[in-house]
Amino acid sequence: MPASTTACPTSCRSCARTVNEDWIGRWENGRTGWHEAGGNAGLRNYWPSDIAGNRVLVPLCGKSADLLWLARRGHEVVGVELAKKAVLEFFTEHDLEYRSESGTNLDCYTAIDLPLRIFCGDYFKFDDGPFDALYDRGALVALPGHSRPKYVEHTKKLLRPRAVRLIVTLEYDQAVVQGPPFSVLPPEIRGYWDDLARVTEADDLETCPPKFRAAGLSEIQEVVWLAGPDPAVT
Ligand SMILES: C[S@@+](CC[C@H](N)C(=O)[O-])C[C@H]1O[C@@H](n2cnc3c(N)ncnc32)[C@H](O)[C@@H]1O
Repeated sequence: MPASTTACPTSCRSCARTVNEDWIGRWENGRTGWHEAGGNAGLRNYWPSDIAGNRVLVPLCGKSADLLWLARRGHEVVGVELAKKAVLEFFTEHDLEYRSESGTNLDCYTAIDLPLRIFCGDYFKFDDGPFDALYDRGALVALPGHSRPKYVEHTKKLLRPRAVRLIVTLEYDQAVVQGPPFSVLPPEIRGYWDDLARVTEADDLETCPPKFRAAGLSEIQEVVWLAGPDPAVT
């Protein structure tokens, strides 16, 4: 990501447009080192089994295989993704039939045989709540520090009170390498949601985007945070 996307201390409209163009450019050029073809282990290990209601929000979803995993568990899954290329690749790579509809702010791609939709466009213009649960991997950490409070505020408006939240973050030394994905430390997380529990952390050096290893980073933790209904997990 160019310096312009991290230097702006505000979320002004022209910077937001530049940031969005950068993400679309990443998809166009295949610079998607964050993508986990097999999905995320933290989700599979810690997603609660007894969620009341079943509408799950997956912001900044890319072409994550986790969308499919959640839908196959019977949830009504709604992803939101800026890049049309990511959305189309998701349906093609998983051999899923879909129909598409144009919207004022976001276009909607709906799977025919699964309870799964992806809205294509800017998450900050997405307003099709409420949701019973949030799955965030690669969303909060994709955003620079000045955009994260706005992201959390917008997300909270889309969630029902006491919604289940599973959030995957990264922790590493940003003096060695800059994001995205960014390092988001516990005080910041607890400032957003004080009911999240840190359920696990794992070394992510082997699977993190290659630029981290290339920069000489020797340690990076992937952390799973959860606020959920299952006391055995929390
Ligand atoms: C680091 S990737 C993570 C993707 C996915 N969550 C995963 O785990 O593979 C961040 C994604 O957010 C998308 N994105 C960035 N800004 C966005 C915005 N304002 N609205 C919707 N999607 C956005 C990017 O195109 C990119 O696919």
